[in-house]
Amino acid sequence: MSPLLEIKDVEAGYGPFVVLHGVSLRVDRGEIVALVGPNGAGKTTTLKTIVGLTTLYRGRVVLDGRDVTREPPHARVGRGLALVPEGRGIFVPLTVLENLRLGAYSREARAKMDETLEMVFSVFPRLKERRNQIAGTLSGEESQMLAIGRALMSRPRVLLLDESSQGLAPKIVEELFEVFRRLNSEWGVTMLLVEQHVKRSLELANRAYVMESGRIVLEGESGELMRNEMLRKAYLVV
Ligand SMILES: Nc1ncnc2c1ncn2[C@@H]1O[C@H](COP(=O)(O)OP(=O)(O)O)[C@@H](O)[C@H]1O
Ligand SMILES: [Mg+2]
Repeated sequence: MSPLLEIKDVEAGYGPFVVLHGVSLRVDRGEIVALVGPNGAGKTTTLKTIVGLTTLYRGRVVLDGRDVTREPPHARVGRGLALVPEGRGIFVPLTVLENLRLGAYSREARAKMDETLEMVFSVFPRLKERRNQIAGTLSGEESQMLAIGRALMSRPRVLLLDESSQGLAPKIVEELFEVFRRLNSEWGVTMLLVEQHVKRSLELANRAYVMESGRIVLEGESGELMRNEMLRKAYLVV
């Protein structure tokens, strides 16, 4: 099977600061792939590079066989990449429903808006209850749900999630991972998941990449990685 999303030998960063040193990874259609690693490893930079928000020095970004390396961020988003950034980013003066509607910006997404809203409300019933509430008055976890819901409204081919569970209570993190599982199994959403919760991510994902200092240092099937001594020592044993 050809990969849905692939980055090849990417060297990227911010202006003169090189952060990624030859990173390659791929996400196949229907997969959940986890990208894990310590703070400062370059996980966020990898996601930003995929959507075109960094300086690229070398390498390629390929979406469904099409080289999008030279395309600006809005064009890549139009082709089906949606990033839920760290720290959310919702429009606080607008209502929940207005935020969700704004997520459906392509003509195709607008045509499917009612159907997609139903999907979002079925995985996040709390957003349905609060659809007329101003987004700025939502709790942290509700804002996170809204950020994910808004990204889903664009009907992404690949959903890129940057530490969506950060700062959430353990029970809510559990619920969020269950939502990821449902989105994938019931709705076929392909995901690249950047997470601090390494063990949970590996339990959910088909495959995973471990990143350190701007390089992929380990990759493989999740089950295999969970048995990897080095990874267990570094992340799984508390
Ligand atoms: N806007 C920026 N300008 C310069 N350096 C940055 C910028 N953002 C992040 N970095 C640096 O890039 C490295 C990787 O950061 P990041 O991708 O955010 O890591 P992670 O998400 O894995 O914690 C860090 O050393 C960080 O200081
Ligand atoms: Mg980060």
